[in-house]
Formats: sequence, C-alpha cells, structure tokens
Amino acid sequence: MSSSPPYKVGVIIGSARHSSNTIGYCTYLTSRIAHHHPSITVETIDLINSPGHPLPFLISDPYPSTQPPTTLPSAYADPAIRSWSAKILSFDGLIVLAPQYNWGCSATLKNALDQLYHEWNGMPTMIASLGSRGGNKVQDQLRPMLQGGLHMTLVEGRLEFKVPREYMHSPEGRVKGDEEFLKVYDGTVEEVLGELVILMESRGMLKEERKA
Ligand SMILES: Cc1cc2nc3c(=O)[nH]c(=O)nc-3n(C[C@H](O)[C@H](O)[C@H](O)COP(=O)(O)O)c2cc1C
Repeated sequence: MSSSPPYKVGVIIGSARHSSNTIGYCTYLTSRIAHHHPSITVETIDLINSPGHPLPFLISDPYPSTQPPTTLPSAYADPAIRSWSAKILSFDGLIVLAPQYNWGCSATLKNALDQLYHEWNGMPTMIASLGSRGGNKVQDQLRPMLQGGLHMTLVEGRLEFKVPREYMHSPEGRVKGDEEFLKVYDGTVEEVLGELVILMESRGMLKEERKA
C-alpha cells in the first residue's frame, strides 16, 4: 500500500451498451485503487449513464482546440460541454476504460474526447482495454490519438482485459468485478497504477514550479 497524496482520478467508461461488461471491470479497477492507494478519490463517468451524458454528438463552433485555454470551461456555449470540461479539469489523472468494438473504440468515447481539447493536454492517463483478446487493437488506436492528437501523458504499461467468452454474449452473465479470474490482472494493475501515480506527481511538481 502506498501513501499517495489525495489525488482525484476520473475513470471514463467508454462503453456504448447498457448491458456492459466494462462497468464490472471498472468495479474491479476501483477496488484495486482503494487497496493500493486509499488516499486517491475515484470518480466514474459512464458516457451513456452519468448525469450530463451522453454528450451532444455534433461539435459546436468555435471548435475545442481554438478555444483560449484560460477561458475554459466557460468558453463553451453548450452547458453540457461546459460541465464536461469542468469535470475533466477537476481531475489529476484519468483512466480510460475502453471496450474494443470492431477493432476500435466506441463512437461515444471518440465523441467525448473530441468535444474537448486543452483539458486533455498533459493529463496523466492510463488506458485499460477490453475485448475477446484483451482489446489490443483499441489500445493501438487510442495511444496515438490520446498522446499525439490530444497531448495526454500516457502510462507506458498496457492493461488489457480478456473478456471470457461466456460474458460476451449474455446480458445476464456480465462481469460484476469480483470474479476469481480477475485476480490474474492484480500484478499488472498494481504496476500501471504505480506509473499513473508517478505521472500525477510529476505534473503536480510542474504546476508548483510554474506558480513559483
Ligand atoms: C459492436 C461490438 C463490436 C465488437 N468488436 C470486437 C472486436 O473487434 N474485438 C474483440 O475482441 N471484441 C469485440 N467485441 C466484444 C467486446 O469487446 C466485449 O463484448 C466487451 O464486453 C464490450 O464491452 P461492453 O460490454 O461494455 O460493451 C465487440 C462487441 C460489440 C458490442
């Protein structure tokens, strides 16, 4: 167990299905965060169910990267985007939990990312993917998108959850988050969370230096 500062981490659930397995993987991840880093506060944002979601699907003008960073979140005309911006600005770090749909991410996740720009800049972020083989294709898609396109600071370690076949096709049998088979990920989860904490510490120091 570490004695991390009281960081606030947002977990973005990138599923587009109500009968989602991703929610169960989120439950598992948040329980591992509580175990290893009890001082970290976690807030989950489900992109189809959380208040204010799903977000509007069209991008308003002036588009996000052209908004002056110092005017955020109030620069956005749409109140839904204003609160999405304020929510992301409130976090010290992010976990993007992305199910693989046809070798890529859900449209809901891509839309939620495209609705903002400066908010993502420098944000310490860890990707956790899921799919029948661990969602390696959605990891490969998201890494350049988040790092190159949106300038987030990514954890190097890859967390890829293999969804067992019996959970893929039955809404009743979806993953809850306390299954025995999840224990196989405990070691990798501890490593990637450790990396995320280091990135949050570095960003915190950078902010302090800029203030001084
Ligand atoms: C539209 C759709 C496309 C999918 N495409 C893939 C895929 O390309 N590769 C894969 O491994 N799994 C694929 N799957 C399986 C999902 O990754 C798996 O069912 C996972 O539980 C999806 O997350 P969710 O339950 O939150 O929707 C797909 C599932 C859906 C619904």
